[in-house]
Amino acid sequence: MAHNREHWTSRMGFILAAAGSAVGLGNIWRFPYITGENGGGAFLLIYLAMVFSIGLSLLVAELIIGRSTQLDPAGAFKKLAGGAWPLVGYMGILTAFLILSFYCVIAGWTLAYTVKSVTGSILVSDLDQVGSTFNAFITDPLEPVYYTAVFIALTVFVALGGVASGIERAARFLMPALFLILLVLVFRSLTLEGAGEGLAFFLKPDFSKVTWDTLLAALGQAFFSLSLGMGAMITYGSYLNRHDDIATSAVAVTLLDAAVAVLAGLVILPAVFAFGATPSAGPGLTFITLPSIFAQMPLGALFSALFFFLLAIAALTSAVALLEVVIVYFVDEGEANRRKVALIIGVITFALAVPASLSLGIWSGYTIGGKGLLDALDFFTNNITMPLGGLLVAIFVGWTLRRTAVAELVDGSAIAPVLVSAWHFIIRYVAPLAIVLILVNGLGLI
Ligand code: PHE
Repeated sequence: MAHNREHWTSRMGFILAAAGSAVGLGNIWRFPYITGENGGGAFLLIYLAMVFSIGLSLLVAELIIGRSTQLDPAGAFKKLAGGAWPLVGYMGILTAFLILSFYCVIAGWTLAYTVKSVTGSILVSDLDQVGSTFNAFITDPLEPVYYTAVFIALTVFVALGGVASGIERAARFLMPALFLILLVLVFRSLTLEGAGEGLAFFLKPDFSKVTWDTLLAALGQAFFSLSLGMGAMITYGSYLNRHDDIATSAVAVTLLDAAVAVLAGLVILPAVFAFGATPSAGPGLTFITLPSIFAQMPLGALFSALFFFLLAIAALTSAVALLEVVIVYFVDEGEANRRKVALIIGVITFALAVPASLSLGIWSGYTIGGKGLLDALDFFTNNITMPLGGLLVAIFVGWTLRRTAVAELVDGSAIAPVLVSAWHFIIRYVAPLAIVLILVNGLGLI
C-alpha cells in the first residue's frame, strides 16, 4: 500500500505542482465570465476575500489531512476517524470524476483553438463573427468530441508517468511561461481604445448588485479555482513528506492562483468593453473576445496559438490532478495497478464527456433541472458538492482533529502563533458558518 509512495522532490516542486492543479480553466476561462455575470468589482473583492480567508484555510486543512495520512481521500478519513467520515472522501472522488468529464470538454476547445489559431480560421476582429464561429464549433456533434478525446488521452498519458517526474517537471516550466504571456496580454488589452470602462467594471465595486447568488458564485469559484472540497489537495498533500512545510506552500499556491485569475480578468474584461461586447455573455467570453484581440495584434496568430496552447497545458495540469484523485483511491484502497486504473478511468471519463459535449448542441433538448448535462455537472459540483465537501472538511479538521491538526500545521512550518490561532478560528467557526449560510441561501433552501 502506502509504503513505496512517491513524493514531491522539493518544496518548490510541490508548490508548482499544486499551483498547476489550482491554475487552470477556472482562472482564465471561468473566472472572467463569472465575474462578468456577477457585476464586476464587488464580485472580485468578495472572491478575493473568500480565497484568502476560507480558501487558504481549507487548503491548509486538506494538506494536513493528506500529509498526515499519506493516503487517498477516502482512506485518509478512514484512518483518522472512521464512522461516516470516509463518505466525505467518496463524495470528493465522485466530484473529481464528474468535474473531469466536463473539464475535458472545455479543455478540448482550447486545443482546438490552438490549432485554429495557426490555420487562422478564428482570428477575425468582428465579435459577432467570432461568436458565431465559436457557437458553430461547440455545437458541432463531432469536432469538439475529437478534441476532448485527444485531451483525455494526454491527461491519461501524464498520469501514466507518475507523480514526481511527470506532474512536477511539467509544472516547473509551464507555470512561468503562462505568467509571462498573460502579462503581455494584459498590456495589450489595457492599451486598447475604450479599455478604461472594462477596467472600471472589473475594479470598481458596486455592492448594490450583491445577492446571495453572488456570494454562492464567489464561494463556488474560490473552491473550484483552488481545487478544494473534492480531495485533490488531500491527494497532493499525501505526496508530501511527513515533515514538509504546509503553511508557506499554501500561501504561495493561493497567491499564484489569485494572481492568475486577476490577470485573466485584466485581459478579458477591458477587451470585452473595448469591443462593445457584454460581460455577462457566459462561457464563451474568453473564446470570443480573445480571438478578436489577437486578430488586431501584430503576430496575432502566434500569440493566439501560444495563449491557447498554454491554456491547454494549464488545463492539463489541472485535469491530471482530478484524475489523480480517482487513481489514488483505487491504488491505495484496492491495491490496483496504477496504469490500468488510469486507462480505465480515461475511457469512462470519455463516455460521460461525450454526452456533456453534445448537450451544447444536438442534445440540448435533454435537461436536468432546466440545464443541459454540461451546465448541470458544472452547477452540481461547483455549487453543491464542492462547498459541501469544504464544509465537512472544515468541521472535521476544526472539531474532530482539533489540537492534532494544529500540531500538524506547526510541524514543518515556521508560523507565528497568532496566525495559527487565526487559522484554527476560521476553520472551526468562520468557514463552517459562512459556507452553511451561503449554501442555504444561495440554493434558496429557506
Ligand atoms: N482548479 C482547477 C482550475 O481552476 C480546476 C480543478 C478543480 C482542478 C478541482 C483540480 C481539482 O481550473
